[in-house]
Amino acid sequence: MSPGRPEAFSTVVGTRFIASTTKPYRTGRPELDGFLHEEQGRGRDACGPFVWSEADIPRPMARSDSAILMEYLGDRRGPALALQNVELSHNEVYPIFEQLMRNVELWLTNNYIHADLSAYNVLYWQGQISIIDFPQAIDPRFNPNALDLLTRDIENICHYIARYGLERDGYRIARRLWQRFKNAEL
Ligand SMILES: Nc1ncnc2c1ncn2[C@@H]1O[C@H](COP(=O)(O)OP(=O)(O)O)[C@@H](O)[C@H]1O
Ligand SMILES: [Mg+2]
Repeated sequence: MSPGRPEAFSTVVGTRFIASTTKPYRTGRPELDGFLHEEQGRGRDACGPFVWSEADIPRPMARSDSAILMEYLGDRRGPALALQNVELSHNEVYPIFEQLMRNVELWLTNNYIHADLSAYNVLYWQGQISIIDFPQAIDPRFNPNALDLLTRDIENICHYIARYGLERDGYRIARRLWQRFKNAEL
């Protein structure tokens, strides 16, 4: 991760939003597109129980064909740090791990696997985490590598928390979750 400002910052509007123009954020997914449309038109409260309003992600504000405008996490000095570059206090580690696993499960329940989840794609701001960088998310119902990708996502997080002495078996967690997904138990 380069320490400099990402290119996307040239399009920051005020300090509250960041436009992710460095990379097109085309979802091609009607659910998310519908959600963003709602966000644009009526605001977050209109979104109901949809997965993205429950997930710990920056709040999406608007979109065009090739870009998404989302909540900016950070301040005028720069963006929030990635979890990878943060020194967590001891009592934050387990809750954050659990929160990440809850998100992974929530996405899987709604037929998404992030597929690039790691401590680099989790922002930490004012004691809260937000997961970013979803363009490569896959649909586990149709992707033959779904279990491998899910396992890699979870193992990356387990690897990260191991630096704090918390040992979790990512492979096993992924297998169990996958089993529940396949048995429609999520
Ligand atoms: N919502 C956001 N608020 C603040 N900074 C962000 C936000 N989204 C991305 N960034 C910044 O941009 C960097 C790269 O974003 P990311 O979506 O991971 O793209 P990629 O890894 O593909 O370059 C992040 O590490 C962070 O510094
Ligand atoms: Mg990234």
